Amino acid sequence: MGNNGLSKVTVIGAGNIGGTLAQRLAESDVAGEVVLFDIVEGLPQGKALDIQESAPVVGFSTRISGSTRLEEAVEGADLVILTAGLARKPGMSRSDLLGRNAQIVRGHAEAIREKAPHAVVIVVTNPVDVMAYHVWKTTGFPRERVIAESGTLDSARFRWFVAEALGVTPRDVVGFTLGTHGDTMVPVLSHCSVNGVPVTRLLPPEKLKAIVERTKKGGGEIVELLKTGSAYYAPSAAQLEMALAVARNEHRLISCSVLLDGEFGFKDVFLSVPVVVGRNGFSRIHEIELTPEERKALESSAKAVQEDLKLLAMMPL
Ligand code: LAC
Repeated sequence: MGNNGLSKVTVIGAGNIGGTLAQRLAESDVAGEVVLFDIVEGLPQGKALDIQESAPVVGFSTRISGSTRLEEAVEGADLVILTAGLARKPGMSRSDLLGRNAQIVRGHAEAIREKAPHAVVIVVTNPVDVMAYHVWKTTGFPRERVIAESGTLDSARFRWFVAEALGVTPRDVVGFTLGTHGDTMVPVLSHCSVNGVPVTRLLPPEKLKAIVERTKKGGGEIVELLKTGSAYYAPSAAQLEMALAVARNEHRLISCSVLLDGEFGFKDVFLSVPVVVGRNGFSRIHEIELTPEERKALESSAKAVQEDLKLLAMMPL
């Protein structure tokens, strides 16, 4: 049992995101055991051992191991984080990954259903809002236990761009994005502040507009620079934020993608909204007030995810 209450966390996928996340998890001592799973023999074992050997220097107690056996890797996990899947190449949208990643994720979700029936699941695989829906359906878990990273990552980028523009520490910038993890996401200016001072009073409208646009394309900006894959430092940090909220039962109010059941006027779709996250997943959705423009943007966002959900429903998986 880790210091903070979780026995076992499983990270599915030992790519750039999974490997970096496993390191962050181990270094945070959020669980007694972290298991890194991948289908490529040697990859999860090698990364896990490498991370483990840093423990004496970094000073963590987590036991970390790698595995290529899915059922064993997820068995009895309290928290499973799904990162496996193809990443975007330049010019691709997250939706282009839908078919292939849906197949990959399905097997993982089935293993979780069988071997970790009480786990909280954090979904990261893109297109994340659609994959989260797919995981929720496949596991049959209550909606509270399937949460997806998109708002946490996009909010981090949004907050950084605001901090950079103002020359203040990003720690003092609070705010979030809503909607989908795609070009129609909604960085919410009306609720973004620097220690309570509305950002709309600190920056001119054209600067704010530029920040909103850059946030929406934040993932793509990294893909264009890296050329061989997508971002993983900020994504894994955002995933850790969610994992810590679960492990420590923090009741953080953060933007995560969850299944809506009438909240904000949407049903049967995953979208990032402000939720309270703790040991059992999310507990409450806060239906905050939006400006008419933000509301309209959220509707476009929902439409984009609903279109992808229709594609998913037609796929022979
Ligand atoms: C991003 C990818 C991971 O936004 O979706 O960087």
